[in-house]
Amino acid sequence: MNPIGIEQRRWFQRGAWRTCLLGAFVAAAVVCRGEAAVPRAEQADRGLELLLSKAYLPADFDQEVFDDLWTTWETPLRSRAERAPVEERRRMAMERYGLVPHPRDPSRSMQYVVDAEGRWVMSCLACHQGQVRGTAIPGVPNTSYALETLTEEVRLVKVQQRKAFSHMDVGSLLLPLGTTNGTTNAVIFGVALMRHRDPDLSIVQRPPRFDLVHHDMDAPAWWHYARRKSLYADGFAPKGHRILMQFLLVKENGPEKFQEWEDDFRGIESWIESLEPPQWTGGIDLGLVDRGRAVYAEHCASCHGTHGPDGVYPDRIVPIEEVGTDRVRLDSLTAQERGQLNDSWFGHYGADAVGMEDRESPTGYVAPSLDGIWASAPYFHNGSVPTLWHVLHPGERPTVWRRTPSGYDDARVGLEVEELAEMPPGRLRSSDRRTFFDTRKPGKSAAGHDFPDALTEDEKTAVLEYLKTI
Ligand code: HEC
Ligand code: HEC
Repeated sequence: MNPIGIEQRRWFQRGAWRTCLLGAFVAAAVVCRGEAAVPRAEQADRGLELLLSKAYLPADFDQEVFDDLWTTWETPLRSRAERAPVEERRRMAMERYGLVPHPRDPSRSMQYVVDAEGRWVMSCLACHQGQVRGTAIPGVPNTSYALETLTEEVRLVKVQQRKAFSHMDVGSLLLPLGTTNGTTNAVIFGVALMRHRDPDLSIVQRPPRFDLVHHDMDAPAWWHYARRKSLYADGFAPKGHRILMQFLLVKENGPEKFQEWEDDFRGIESWIESLEPPQWTGGIDLGLVDRGRAVYAEHCASCHGTHGPDGVYPDRIVPIEEVGTDRVRLDSLTAQERGQLNDSWFGHYGADAVGMEDRESPTGYVAPSLDGIWASAPYFHNGSVPTLWHVLHPGERPTVWRRTPSGYDDARVGLEVEELAEMPPGRLRSSDRRTFFDTRKPGKSAAGHDFPDALTEDEKTAVLEYLKTI
């Protein structure tokens, strides 16, 4: 257990950290915690502050573009926006693109920091800070982020306003950013960008590759980081602050920027490491929980570990043939690409991965820790399963589903969804199509992980109750 993390979570949830972060950090530590800050906590606070305020990438768009996005929307939304005051229009835009209000200024978003010229710059929190039941739980993935739709509509407004395209506007003409809201092609952005770097991250010109295996991923919850030995769905990358900087590989950032910012990322890593899983806030049937714990110990713990103060997390990679979930992510990286990342500056030229068995050719997916699992729906690495009930009922997973804007399903534990057997007929506007998760598309299968089939219906009900408590 990490008391610093709990403290920070309370700040975040109460909104108290808003006031704290506005002041100087020393004052914040004393006033908010009532005691002298320990260096580690300061490091984590600094990390959070950097995530909320420092621009590491070129800007994406300015306020004028953001405020005109509604002009590209379909009716009747567009006419509603036209009549609405500017604050209401901004709120509508935040909802459409899955942006979370910034704790210091709700008319801005946590996903973008505002640079010295007032322009919006994408941050790590774009994909890594979402909301559950309308609350921003620290480290909960952003499962509403409509990156592709936002970029598409930003481009249209820039044409109207005669403004230059940003790296994202151009990049998205070459690579898909995400075909379902809430998931992104982030792994392949990384591969495409790393192709143009030497081990010391100097830029080299190589012809682009046209055989990249695009696929969308659901970002993992950050509170698992502290317990992981390695990173990512297939566990091929060693843990460390440097590897977290991959997302900054745009051509504007040369090797000197990575060195300059390395210490910032020690702070950002400390923030991530300090996070604790959130606790379920609804009702619990304690009798059922006890039964569920026993069933879990027998059927699930060998892969997912145990929970509570003496919990042990095995961080086990399960062969793809055994887990049987979608394999596109596993097959999308070559041994050479995995090796290149580990053998570069990011992995201390291979030193970080010494002794790791799965560094180049992992055989399957890591069984994630299930701490705080109630909050990180949808499930599996590709986000294909909307609730824990559906994880536990492999035969009943929907073929196509669409979440309600911010609804939470307390009974089935996860996203509140509409289930469909097919995509709606006719040609959909691209922004509308991305609100559906179609499990028949490549990389999006919801099949596999049939382990719960060994349970009776009563056992499943008990395990579902137990999962709320871990
Ligand atoms: C466009 C979305 C996106 C952005 C922006 C992004 N990430 Fe991620 N991140 C992901 C996805 C998707 C994964 C899962 C990749 C995988 O498992 O293969 C991930 C994985 C991670 C993990 C690994 C967690 C684990 O348990 O394996 C960490 C830590 C992380 N990101 C930190 C960061 C930091 C720090 C930044 C900013 C510098 C950042 N991310 C920016 C989408 C994003
Ligand atoms: C043989 C190992 C194994 C067993 C047994 C197992 N799981 Fe899993 N589980 C995995 C792996 C591997 C994944 C990751 C699959 C993926 O993302 O594609 C996973 C994913 C999950 C997820 C989604 C996690 C997330 O963050 O998206 C849940 C929930 C889950 N398992 C619950 C259970 C429950 C409940 C049981 C017992 C009934 C169980 N598992 C048994 C290996 C296992």
